[in-house]
Amino acid sequence: MKRIVVLISGNGSNLQAVIDACQQKKINGTLCAVFSNKADAFGLERAREAGIRAHVLLPADYASREAFDRQLIAEIDACAPDLVVLAGYMRILSPAFVAHYAGRLLNIHPSLLPKYPGLYTHRQVLENGDEEHGTSVHFVTDELDGGPVILQAKVPVFDGDDETLITARVQHQEHAIYPLVISWFVDGRLAMRDNAAWLDGARLPPEGYAAED
Ligand code: GRF
Repeated sequence: MKRIVVLISGNGSNLQAVIDACQQKKINGTLCAVFSNKADAFGLERAREAGIRAHVLLPADYASREAFDRQLIAEIDACAPDLVVLAGYMRILSPAFVAHYAGRLLNIHPSLLPKYPGLYTHRQVLENGDEEHGTSVHFVTDELDGGPVILQAKVPVFDGDDETLITARVQHQEHAIYPLVISWFVDGRLAMRDNAAWLDGARLPPEGYAAED
C-alpha cells in the first residue's frame, strides 16, 4: 500500500475528500500523517476523527523558512511517504523542500493555470468578468503554481456570482479531481519527467489530461 502525507493550513475539505476516497478504496493508499502550519486548522480535527496522526509545526518556532522546512522534511520522512499532497497548504516552500520531494509532490490550485497563479484567484475571475473558472492539479516545482499540470476541471461563472458561490463551485470539482489524480499516482500511472506530467506513458499537454469525447 502506498503511503501518503497531506499538508494543510485550514479547513481541509480537500483532505476530507482524500480521506473518504482512501476509506472507499478509490485510492489504493494509506494516509499516514497530516501536517499543518496553523494550530487551529480545522483539517486537524478531520484527520484525528479519521484516526490519522495530525501534527502542527509553527513557523514562529523556527529561525528561518529553511529551518522550518528541514524539520518538516524530517517529520514527514519519518512516515516514509511515497507521495506528499499539498491541500490548501498556504506557505511558500523552500527550494530544498521542493527538490527533496521532486516528482512526488502534488498541489491543487483554484484557477485554470497558467491563469492566475498566487492568491485571490476567485476575486480576479469576478473582477475580470471571466465566463469560465476552475481548478488545476499539478506537480510542484520551484515556480509558484507553475509545475506541470495533470488535470483541470472547469466551472461556469454566472451573472450574480460572488466569491462564496464560485469558491463552492470550484471546490466541488476539487473534491472529485484531487482524489482521482492521487489514485493515478499511487497506481503507478502518473509521473513527472522532463518538466512534464506523464500518464500511462504518454506526455500530457500543458493543460493536463483531457478525456477524448
Ligand atoms: C482549495 O480551494 C485549494 O485549491 C487551495 O486552497 C483551498 C483549500 O481548501 N489551494 P481546503 O482547506 O481543502 O478546504
